[in-house]
Amino acid sequence: MKENKRRYYEDTFGKEDPLLHEIRKQASSQNIEQMQLSPADACLLQFLTRLSRAEKAIEIGGLFGYSTLHIARGLHSSGCVYSLDIDSQRQEISQKLIKDDPNFSKIKWIAGDAHKTLQTLTHLSPFDLIFIDAEKSGYGDYLKWSETHLKVGGLLVADNTFLFDTLFTEEPQLSQLRKEHGVSVQSEKVLKQFNERITSSKIWKSAMIPTIDGLSVAFKVEEGSL
Ligand SMILES: C[S@@+](CC[C@H](N)C(=O)[O-])C[C@H]1O[C@@H](n2cnc3c(N)ncnc32)[C@H](O)[C@@H]1O
Repeated sequence: MKENKRRYYEDTFGKEDPLLHEIRKQASSQNIEQMQLSPADACLLQFLTRLSRAEKAIEIGGLFGYSTLHIARGLHSSGCVYSLDIDSQRQEISQKLIKDDPNFSKIKWIAGDAHKTLQTLTHLSPFDLIFIDAEKSGYGDYLKWSETHLKVGGLLVADNTFLFDTLFTEEPQLSQLRKEHGVSVQSEKVLKQFNERITSSKIWKSAMIPTIDGLSVAFKVEEGSL
């Protein structure tokens, strides 16, 4: 995206209130702001959450709660989002930051490796919305879990599905991108398979929203195998 286009997109569609701004500052103080959704992409996630009329959601990879709060705000008033993150300190910081927001009670925080946590949540399925934004090598397993535990008609959203442009860049720039973003060859393989699966399986009707790093969206239209 051209720089002036991106600036217009963020300035116009990525408006933040003071709390969102505070969460963003937390990430920038640790030099990991780029791990969070951009303000405009996060507003898009909130919009998708509302559009899907989700009541029961899962977020895989919450960091400091920026995307979590957007999902919570997009949920039905009686809705709930399970926010999973492997880093319990990040979750503690998120809780402190968000505790006074009226949507705080909609968020259930679960610390631990999401691959294990998801197995403890199966009894709550089917879910209405699953947002994937944790380690890229795990996307294949998270997709597999979603095929079984998302409801038919439910929405899957996954961030970074262009994988920092590594999926379609040739050498010598490819090596540079891999280094810059810490992308492994294995993650590239997983992300290619992920995008291929949601665009070719009968289970999914999907689309790519070409944000800066790609936001794949897919409605589950058929039951996956158990
Ligand atoms: C890209 S950040 C999430 C950003 C967040 N969704 C946002 O937009 O504000 C990825 C997060 O996934 C977490 N993570 C990485 N591997 C994980 C795993 N196996 N299980 C759960 N969380 C994991 C990291 O600790 C990190 O906080």
